[in-house]
Amino acid sequence: MRRLLQTAAARAPRIAFYPGDGIGVDVTDATLRLLEHAQSQHNFALETTVFDWNSSSYADANGGRCAPDDMIEILRPFDAIFLGAVGWPAARPDHETLEPLIRMRQAYSQFACVRPARTYDGVPTPLASGAPVDMVVVRENSEGEYVHVGGRVARGTPDEVAVQTAVHTRRGVERVLRYGIEAARERRGKLTLVTKSNAQRYGMAMWEDVLADLDCSGIEVDVQHVDACCMNFVRRPESFDVVVASNLFGDILTDLSGAVTGSLGLNPSANLDPTRANPSLFEPVHGSAPDIAGKGVANPVGAFLSAATMLEWLAPSGVPPAAGGAIRRAVEESLAARESTADAGGTLGTSEVTEAVMRRI
Ligand code: NAI
Ligand code: MG
Repeated sequence: MRRLLQTAAARAPRIAFYPGDGIGVDVTDATLRLLEHAQSQHNFALETTVFDWNSSSYADANGGRCAPDDMIEILRPFDAIFLGAVGWPAARPDHETLEPLIRMRQAYSQFACVRPARTYDGVPTPLASGAPVDMVVVRENSEGEYVHVGGRVARGTPDEVAVQTAVHTRRGVERVLRYGIEAARERRGKLTLVTKSNAQRYGMAMWEDVLADLDCSGIEVDVQHVDACCMNFVRRPESFDVVVASNLFGDILTDLSGAVTGSLGLNPSANLDPTRANPSLFEPVHGSAPDIAGKGVANPVGAFLSAATMLEWLAPSGVPPAAGGAIRRAVEESLAARESTADAGGTLGTSEVTEAVMRRI
């Protein structure tokens, strides 16, 4: 009884929804519907706020800024952030439109970008072997190749010079490697570090040195250069368990892990501050897909699984542990029944898939 009273008194977790651009809007709308249904079925409440920041109409009305200057302060009080996708190349260059996302990841120390990729019954893959795949890429998310360090001089002239520097700190590398080691211990006990130390003798060699200094007892450790790793993702993806990579390498590898396991549209992502000092950010791996935006055919499953991970992350705030699992199970069942969008081998649209998953919760 006392526990019940405490639960009733606790405030509902506050979630900021940032649909963004293109199919980011389509899959966020679908996720809001799904979460409303999950709340009624599993008896919990979320306080949701939707922000209309985007790279077209919002930016046009705000001097070209795709999100407010004080976005970090606005979002800080929330328990979690859910992002659809940002980017609309017809309106603005991608390096401007992606800026708010990178700002959140860095300002909130969301250093572990966790991106699972697995095969599903009912979803065809391009792989001949058909072996089941179940891997998770942990992408360093706060520094590396995506810090804004560099510059351009003599712009537009034949003498133009562009410098773009990657920054790898021992602290940053160590914390994401520790996260990967723990994840491997909780999964199948295998960690692959991806570098390119044969060509990048400072930054990438330091990654390998830092790993060598850490306690990896109880797990099998493997180091691969990123080019070889790309080949192995295609040749034998079933051999991977936990993969840790720098910001750029992890970004590239997770489009590939999505594609080899069925479709990029199925893949979730969590940008975590494991210390919980800042809000974490949940988003599908895919982008705004202008080629299919507004057509009602975007696969919402990557967004649904990101929402499931968000609910599990919010367990300390009172979300029932079963709610995220129920979404996962409903997704698996509907994929197995071929209730999926075209990219995943089905014939349904975004809203039919949403209804099919909701029926199974
Ligand atoms: P993309 O991921 O948007 O699309 C790549 C291909 O996959 C397209 O053919 C698209 O139709 C397909 N696809 C992606 N998600 C799908 C889904 N849910 N269902 C069915 N098909 C799906 O990558 P692209 O085309 O390189 O980038 C488009 C825009 O998105 C750019 O502005 C880019 O900067 C931005 N972007 C944003 C990201 C984010 O917000 N986290 C991540 C990646 C790209
Ligand atoms: Mg990417």
